[in-house]
Amino acid sequence: MTANEYKNLVDAKLSEYFVPAGLSYDGLLESMHYSLTAGGKRIRPMLVLEFCRISGGDTEKALPVACAIEMLHTYSLIHDDLPCMDNDDLRRGKPTNHVVYGECTATLAGDALQAEAFGTIARSSLSAEARANCIEILADAVGSDGMCAGQYLDMIGESKILSEDELDDINSRKTGALLIAACRMGVAAAGGSEAMLEAAAQYGACVGAAFQIRDDILDVISTSEELGKPVGSDAEEHKNTYMALLGEDKCMKMIEKLTDQAKKALSGAFEDTKFLGELADSMVTRKN
Ligand code: IPE
Ligand code: IPE
Ligand code: MG
Ligand code: MG
Ligand code: MG
Repeated sequence: MTANEYKNLVDAKLSEYFVPAGLSYDGLLESMHYSLTAGGKRIRPMLVLEFCRISGGDTEKALPVACAIEMLHTYSLIHDDLPCMDNDDLRRGKPTNHVVYGECTATLAGDALQAEAFGTIARSSLSAEARANCIEILADAVGSDGMCAGQYLDMIGESKILSEDELDDINSRKTGALLIAACRMGVAAAGGSEAMLEAAAQYGACVGAAFQIRDDILDVISTSEELGKPVGSDAEEHKNTYMALLGEDKCMKMIEKLTDQAKKALSGAFEDTKFLGELADSMVTRKN
């Protein structure tokens, strides 16, 4: 499948979740549905599906797992945008969840999306072992030493000047962990080997690092129209970023090196790596 075909498949399935149905708590469902279907590149679901495919798995059965990681990611974005965190009012080209539904509902929409992500994997038609493995991978990635730790460090770092090593640590947790999990969950959904899981993790770590460096660059050089989220938000919130620490040229060199490393990580464990090679390459040029 092409990236666009994957995206359309995931978008169609995601639109089926959390549709208001005349319930007393329709307002909560509406806010969850709003952010989940607002757009987004769907990179994490794509990684799940493509790693499943090249590990010899059934991508149809992995589709709920792909949707689950997007639910988890969407929760992280809703909370990331809250006034107590990055305080942003635009996401995926639309007003942020709390701007439309209020802070309380936005917080609960994030909470519920996180729980529903795990439920969606548990209820999928994968084998019991594959489901358990995917749930464990996701829980480890987003918990107290994964994404939440990264978000915590990102926040308390606002009042300090951090070293490159400290920045690497934050970004590997806040962004890298979930991208690594996407790659590994695809392999796990297919029942792939340890060697495949390891190669997927290495690819995910390199793409994840490149992804956040590019995100930091775009926050400075892009426009909010192209990005679908505010620019200049990092400077406003006194964030430590690669862009602020190293400048654009050094950042681009780092991305190119990481992209190369990502592609090398796959050779040996997988055969058909064209799609993932191109996805890694897109980190150098991506505009949103
Ligand atoms: C944004 O993620 C948050 C970061 C980890 C930098 P994406 O750039 O994947 O956002 P969407 O899903 O396309 O909106
Ligand atoms: C967000 O990083 C990471 C998570 C949501 C876990 P950023 O704060 O840089 O993401 P954007 O730029 O708001 O998308
Ligand atoms: Mg943030
Ligand atoms: Mg943010
Ligand atoms: Mg950012």
